[in-house]
Amino acid sequence: MTEINIQAMALTFNPIPANYRKMSDDELTERINQKKRELGEKLVILTHHYQRRKIVALGDYKGDSYALSKIAAGLDAEIIAFCGVHFMAEAAEILSSDDQTVYLPNPLAGCPMADMAAIANVMYAWDQLKELVPDSKIIPIAYMNTAADLKAFCGKHDGLVCTSSNAPGAFEWGFERGDKIFFYPDEHLGRNTANKLGIARDQIAVWDFRKRKLGGNSPDKIKNAKVIIWKGYCHVHTTFTPDHVRMMRERFPDVRIVVHPECPEQVVELADANGSTAFIVKYVDEAPSGSTIAIGTEINLVDRMAHEYPDKKVMELSGNTCAMCVNMYRTTLNDLAWCLENLDDIKSIEVRQEIQEDSRKALSRMLDIAK
Ligand code: 13P
Ligand code: SF4
Repeated sequence: MTEINIQAMALTFNPIPANYRKMSDDELTERINQKKRELGEKLVILTHHYQRRKIVALGDYKGDSYALSKIAAGLDAEIIAFCGVHFMAEAAEILSSDDQTVYLPNPLAGCPMADMAAIANVMYAWDQLKELVPDSKIIPIAYMNTAADLKAFCGKHDGLVCTSSNAPGAFEWGFERGDKIFFYPDEHLGRNTANKLGIARDQIAVWDFRKRKLGGNSPDKIKNAKVIIWKGYCHVHTTFTPDHVRMMRERFPDVRIVVHPECPEQVVELADANGSTAFIVKYVDEAPSGSTIAIGTEINLVDRMAHEYPDKKVMELSGNTCAMCVNMYRTTLNDLAWCLENLDDIKSIEVRQEIQEDSRKALSRMLDIAK
């Protein structure tokens, strides 16, 4: 049977110059290290936990989306190369100063879940909500996995941004200031957060953005709701099912199961723990030597954990779904080398002035609640 070489396929369609596509990993690594030496403190490479191992190894910092945004806000480096996906690099650009430049080495690395909430659809929903419950104060909360204009919407309407590591705190912040929370775009993180805060099921409404009227809800459902959640999802995390958890426990009775809160609520409920990618890394790190751990998140993080903790048995939870974020996987050594060697020619991340200010407001509120 012919083996498919994903790396080679990805590079075939990558529009970087041919010479960069042909270089070996060793040559690319050496060229990246050479640029790091040349640029010294002018350059910082940030890497998200889902990046391939060889990319993470070259980074100055690795982290979850919250930690990386916080680090970006405090850097002095002129050049920030963000190995992650577009919304993360955009948040770094919003939080960094005007004399800093943020690059996304592979500009095609997006997030399909972030794309499920478009500003026009969110404004359409907002207008309907305001008309139906004019006397309620609704606090909009944007997941970090959104484009800048959706974060700006929250900045403008007394809301904020959150990540999977601070969503419960953000919801509490919202309830101190309003009657209802309007959260987008991840239904599962929204529901898991509402469950953590003990919000009753009948007070959670899901807004289906494909529906014309009230996101498919009755007026009474919306009036009674404390949390209104956008019906978006991550195709990586929704591959995990309660059966995966049960099968894993049958096969390995001592297994510890940790999942990301973008997984469906039944998976989160059956797991031993859930949290952001940084939480998962800490969970594996703190588990005693000899532990068996199954992880419900992106495969590259699981692979790195298995590699870094050979004294523990670390596995991906489903065993067969190949939970890979192809967008995170897009960034190759080839892209990073090409980006660092051609900084003057490559377009950096830019956020239009009119949304820069409001989106920074919403991101800063998130950073403030964690202080
Ligand atoms: P974290 O904020 O936990 O790093 O997650 C980001 C993400 O995109 C998960 O799919
Ligand atoms: Fe987006 Fe899911 Fe990839 Fe995270 S894992 S970046 S939510 S597609």
